[in-house]
Amino acid sequence: MAAPITLAPDLKHWRLTQDAEALAWLVFDKADARVNVLSIDAMAELALAMDVIEPLAKDGTIKGLGMLSCKPGSFIFGADISEFDSWNSEEQIAQGIRDAHALFQRIEDLPVPTAVGVDGICLGGGLELALAFKTVIASRSDKTRLGFPEIQLGIFPGFGGTARILERCGGQAGLTAMLTAKQYRASAAKAIGMVDVLVPDAMRLRWAVRKALMSPRPRKKPGLLARLTRGPLRGMVAKQARKLTAAKVREDHYPAPYALIEHFRVNGGSSAAMYKGEVDRFPPLMLSDTAKSLRRVFFLQDRLKKEAKGKFRARRVHVVGAGLMGGDIAAYCALQGLEVSLQDIDMERIAPALKRAKRLFAKRLRGSAAQKAAEARLIPDVEGQHLARADVVIEAIVEKLDIKQKVFADIEAKARPDAILATNTSALPLADIASGLKDPGRLVGLHFFNPVAQMPLVEVVFDEASHEDLVQAALAFAAQIKKTPLKVRSAKGFLVNRVLVPYMYKALESVAKGTPKEKVDAALLQFGMPMGPIELLDQVGLDVGAYVGQTLGYGEGIGADLMQGLIDAGKLGMKTGQGFYTWKDRKAQRSLAEYEGQDLSALAHDILQPLFDECQQAVDEGVVADADLADVGVIFGTGFAPFRGGPLHYVRQAAARLEAASTPTNP
Ligand code: NAI
Repeated sequence: MAAPITLAPDLKHWRLTQDAEALAWLVFDKADARVNVLSIDAMAELALAMDVIEPLAKDGTIKGLGMLSCKPGSFIFGADISEFDSWNSEEQIAQGIRDAHALFQRIEDLPVPTAVGVDGICLGGGLELALAFKTVIASRSDKTRLGFPEIQLGIFPGFGGTARILERCGGQAGLTAMLTAKQYRASAAKAIGMVDVLVPDAMRLRWAVRKALMSPRPRKKPGLLARLTRGPLRGMVAKQARKLTAAKVREDHYPAPYALIEHFRVNGGSSAAMYKGEVDRFPPLMLSDTAKSLRRVFFLQDRLKKEAKGKFRARRVHVVGAGLMGGDIAAYCALQGLEVSLQDIDMERIAPALKRAKRLFAKRLRGSAAQKAAEARLIPDVEGQHLARADVVIEAIVEKLDIKQKVFADIEAKARPDAILATNTSALPLADIASGLKDPGRLVGLHFFNPVAQMPLVEVVFDEASHEDLVQAALAFAAQIKKTPLKVRSAKGFLVNRVLVPYMYKALESVAKGTPKEKVDAALLQFGMPMGPIELLDQVGLDVGAYVGQTLGYGEGIGADLMQGLIDAGKLGMKTGQGFYTWKDRKAQRSLAEYEGQDLSALAHDILQPLFDECQQAVDEGVVADADLADVGVIFGTGFAPFRGGPLHYVRQAAARLEAASTPTNP
């Protein structure tokens, strides 16, 4: 067979060739990058490629256009987010969107069959590009994911995706895909019409694309109901979406989902209106403080992941202590594919953890085979027989120094010399626990948060004695199990509890002084916390809250007394059905309606002040390396409003705004 002809030799990021069957192949291979992103220059080159393709398609030289990615296991991650901050005026952004629309339209309008083969990650702008092809083919590989993550960055799709997804999937499914930012597996994407054809794996993609170009078939139209949901039922769909969104986020905090729903409600019936709507409604979102803060959080999280990189890869983990934390850490590690042994004093104490693990696997894993395999990976081990084989040993027994010291002496004697030895202590200094070890530098902290499977952060604790390579390995381990690892120095409360506890006690003090607890919670919800501090205390358990508070030196004061009174009366919060609130079906029985519309920002700031102060002190004392890391740690460890960009970022922004307001302008 004749060798393919190169059609555009000067492109850096794309390869454009014509094969012996007169098919043109466009292959994306972003130069000097591990994954493909649609940067400004990659888009400009795509336009150059179209300059070559269009005339050849028109005069019949090429009979079809196929597109593939050259990066293994990844198609396109989306637009290049690192370039977003260079867009700084609404008009400039609107022009960028018009250009992207025109470019993708050129692909859609080609007078020959077009098909794209997707394997691996296909998100945001990458999916918008794929949807401009007549046939979308995806591999069923476990890595393939298609979706619109834009909402999580405070924007919505802007390269024509809002129009094209409705054309393919109808109103309900299209809007849901954009609003939820769900990443669909290939088969789920096909079920809603996002994808036309499935192939078993990447190897068959090119062949399937060729087939779609040689014998094209008309695309299956969305079903009647799907069409109705962008037609006469659109208003109803929009109303329902608004209700669901309002239950999750407020419009003043997160304007993008509301703007998207309105865009859909007003323009959803016509693709031309959808394109125009993107041009009008996207730019202000892109420039909003919310979007800027969310981008900041995205990059900081990325930084943490990059800093955690290392060669260390664990295969076997041994967890000592099968209680609330140890049991859930073991289950979570097994969920992530590791072989885990779980040790406790007897089998009776391990059994509840195994039961919880089974529930977790059933929830998170598809198919009974995968669940059974995860169950098989989690081995109860009363005798600690598996300890000697483990790459990582995590201790999560009761918070008693002498017992932890004893347990670690035993662990050190049995563990492999290169194994990571880690404690999940939330308050004890690393040096104290390690004091009995032959090599105290071997001990690190891996501080997980409750509930383990949901909380993204793990504090990786070190002190001056720690061996740097082991700390780095512990960071890599946390990243390996898909947690966001934050390196923190061993100091009271590390970072997260250090900032969270004084905030909770300030809230308690406010209630003790007479502010209604509902008002306190309403104020912090209004600020953007995921839950009010009083409700959070009830959920955590007042006994647990008081214990953590005491260990950090907050055992006294009117707030502590108020909480102790409830504890003495057996009112421990959600778990006893009564704490500050009465609880029914895991819901606090209360109404915050009376505070709606009230400006509670002064109260919220008053209660948050200790959190801000402690955060700054933690930075000053070197508990974390810098203010950015404190911000990202507090966001992922406490749920601190991500759209505020982190506590210290928020304080800086607020100060800047105040200064700008007090600076006299020239007459
Ligand atoms: P827990 O009381 O639920 O579980 C402790 C388990 O350790 C019990 O099952 C006990 O039988 C077992 N155990 C005690 N001595 C043992 C020994 N010598 N050998 C084997 N097993 C032994 O406690 P929880 O809440 O799971 O806490 C464990 C550790 O995690 C503590 O250091 C705590 O400070 C820390 N932590 C707790 C958090 C929480 O939200 N509860 C959050 C983060 C850390």
